[in-house]
Amino acid sequence: MHKATAGAGSNIAFVKYWGVRHGGADPMVPLNPSISMTLEEVRTTTTVAFEPGAAGDLFTLNGSPATADELRRVGRVLDAVRRRAGMRRFARVVSSNNFPTAAGIASSASGFAALALAAARAAGLPYEPPDLVEPALLGSGSACRSLYGGYVLWQPPAAGRRESTVREVAPREHWPLADLVVIVSRKEKRVKSSEGHLLARTSPFLRARLAQVEGRIARVERAIFERDLRALGEVMEADALSMHAVMMTSTPALLYWQPATVAVIEKVQALRAADALACYFTIDAGPNVHVITAPETARAAEQEIRRIEGVEQILSCSTGEAPRLLQEHLF
Ligand code: DP6
Repeated sequence: MHKATAGAGSNIAFVKYWGVRHGGADPMVPLNPSISMTLEEVRTTTTVAFEPGAAGDLFTLNGSPATADELRRVGRVLDAVRRRAGMRRFARVVSSNNFPTAAGIASSASGFAALALAAARAAGLPYEPPDLVEPALLGSGSACRSLYGGYVLWQPPAAGRRESTVREVAPREHWPLADLVVIVSRKEKRVKSSEGHLLARTSPFLRARLAQVEGRIARVERAIFERDLRALGEVMEADALSMHAVMMTSTPALLYWQPATVAVIEKVQALRAADALACYFTIDAGPNVHVITAPETARAAEQEIRRIEGVEQILSCSTGEAPRLLQEHLF
């Protein structure tokens, strides 16, 4: 068995990961814990085959050869798997996202979760989520949270340790929620998250944000436990704004928002004020807005938000399952 295929969903963080302890290929250590919801509808499927005689790793993403940077990240994950398996074979990797490539939403979380699972299985290694945390992290930080379904907590290593801890806080069935991914721009962001994480330390606001994060994690865990959307939403919005304050006050400054980003925020606040719709926003390293609401109110919220000038598309997502192995290969 040297070939395997896996599918994984992306995730949206309620308390964000922003900033790393140091750069480079060493195990990536975030400055703060983060907590997220896995998404069902925005997924990556990846097939990995370790092929005898191949002269190097090959990676095709959505039908096109990958860029040098993408291939380098994929190579880091494959190297970790090869090292563990005591194997030298190079791999052919074919990956496809089920959402529009240029939708302006991150595919690294679902992509590297699917890659870690497929590569471990193809190499004959154990492939339970804890076995996959380290390889997934060599691709992308947020990928380790996509190794589980439902609600997921990522804790940085304790002092003097190297391993992060990732665990499911609650399964999907505990509290199904909706995430409307409001696309206001499909353009590639100018500064990738990987570079942004290194700039976080240049912000004088970083310390203030970090001082609040632990408390927010505890409040979000409790809100999930109690299925309290209002409590979750208030913490989630505060955390997104504080992360963007850090971004905006870095050197160089990172301003990801566009006019329509603010228009969506204002709409979400207005919908709430009218007491009609309980919905809350969060924003990753880009201009698009995620609107979290109950499944019953998702349609009404979507119809309101669709009318905003500058909104190009809305992807309607829900709480997702853990990654899984698939029988059908991509090649
Ligand atoms: C703003 O996981 O994309 O979405 O580790 O460099 O791949 P790398 O970064 P990435 O960073 C995610 C940042 C964020 C917040 C979050 O998802 O927690």
